[in-house]
Amino acid sequence: MSSQKYILALDQGTTSSRAIVFDHSGRIVSVAQKEYRQHYPKSGWVEHDPFDIWASQSSTAAEAVSKADLSTDAIAAVGITNQRETTVVWDKETGKPVYNAIVWQDRRTADYCAELQKQGIESMIREKTGLRIDPYFSGTKIRWILENVDGARALADKGRLLFGTVDTWLIWQLTERKVHVTDATNASRTLLLNIHTGDWDDDLLKLLGIPRSMLPEVKSSSEVYGKVAAGIYPGGVPIAGIAGDQQAALFGQACFEPGMVKNTYGTGCFTLMNTGTEAVTSKNNLLTTIAWRIGNRTEYALEGSVFIGGAVVQWLRDELRIVSTAQEVDRLAATVPDAGGLYIVPAFTGLGAPHWDPYARGIAVGITRGTNRAHFCRAALDAIAFQTADLISCMEKDSGLTLSELRVDGGASHSQPLLQFQSDLLGRPVIRPKCVETTAMGAAYLAGLAVGYWTSRDDITKNWQVDQKFKPDTARKDIDTLRTGWNRALERSKGWEL
Ligand code: G3P
Repeated sequence: MSSQKYILALDQGTTSSRAIVFDHSGRIVSVAQKEYRQHYPKSGWVEHDPFDIWASQSSTAAEAVSKADLSTDAIAAVGITNQRETTVVWDKETGKPVYNAIVWQDRRTADYCAELQKQGIESMIREKTGLRIDPYFSGTKIRWILENVDGARALADKGRLLFGTVDTWLIWQLTERKVHVTDATNASRTLLLNIHTGDWDDDLLKLLGIPRSMLPEVKSSSEVYGKVAAGIYPGGVPIAGIAGDQQAALFGQACFEPGMVKNTYGTGCFTLMNTGTEAVTSKNNLLTTIAWRIGNRTEYALEGSVFIGGAVVQWLRDELRIVSTAQEVDRLAATVPDAGGLYIVPAFTGLGAPHWDPYARGIAVGITRGTNRAHFCRAALDAIAFQTADLISCMEKDSGLTLSELRVDGGASHSQPLLQFQSDLLGRPVIRPKCVETTAMGAAYLAGLAVGYWTSRDDITKNWQVDQKFKPDTARKDIDTLRTGWNRALERSKGWEL
């Protein structure tokens, strides 16, 4: 046992819950991870059982601390980061959710979103929330629950229902139902927050028929929200940081200056550019979102959200079964010079930024007699890089800034062929830091700053170190042709499921 102190980060993701213990130098001391069940009740629907989320998260917290051989006293604070937009609604008296969590990827409200678009209110919504009318965000998911779950509307009218994104649900559990809060980053993904005032917006609540009494209090991303309850692990430790996972990764990547950009290759791909205290409105179909609020200072980011990124590799492994491990994708991709004219557009749950087409579906085009599984692997990695490059082009147009480098993280950032192609496509360096657990790290930093474990952002910048820098291969002459092919393929995937 050591007398040193540590920070525990809970990283509640779309497919697994993770807990990581960090020390003061930002080094990982221990990790625990648990996958949990995905429910697909209908085409385009994705749900989680909120109690699976909680059980997997609480057990990994205990496991990570025990692996590190620490007592609860050695944990200075807990930070929380989470899959964003995923919507939980529960009865505050019974503590039971009235429906499964509706996951960010779920498209069930696409038709309702199309109706809203017809009302010509897109620009009003964009001005207030920085978002678009799309099933991705929590607002229409909450409305769906109130409209479709027996008795939900009546309970909501009586003030008995609570809404939360996953951070809120976890804190409610961790504090034994005492604290109902969220932070500004998660709130900014609901379609209900005015990102300029930092408060829930009454016009939007009225539009979607959501009572204010359901909503959590919006806090900053770095402060003590409460303590873990005595009967829960790690009892008595302050919960001191919250951020949506993509904003947490921006923080963990030490992207503190306007113009700095990170991309996370997780289930999806999420590219965020820090824009400082200015909320830049996108003219190129990106989102404006809150990067973090610390004290009274709110900083913003431009975000490009791609729904399927690293998940295309899982699809090759689990559904097509043309490889048995993710590493095999890299190995096979390296055996061919290129995808041989094959393009995969992984619009499995529609297309996010910059296309925003919930009816798009995945396609593979350009297949010939010579197409083999190595080409499929190469085309899958290429698709991840093409989607990211499209986001960066929009970001540069919106901000008027030229990207000097791209910081990357997430599971698929271990792929050498992916990162090399990404750099070739962008014509800029791509940098992978030593610690690619930047999401959990960001949450740890936010919590640690709140309790004085770290004192300033300089501490964080010092901890960020380069693992590998991928430089563009300037001799490549095929990039424009490849991008043209990609754009043609994209067009064919749009509007498929009508
Ligand atoms: O907006 C969705 C995003 O927060 C999900 O992230 O890492 O759980 O796939 P991840």
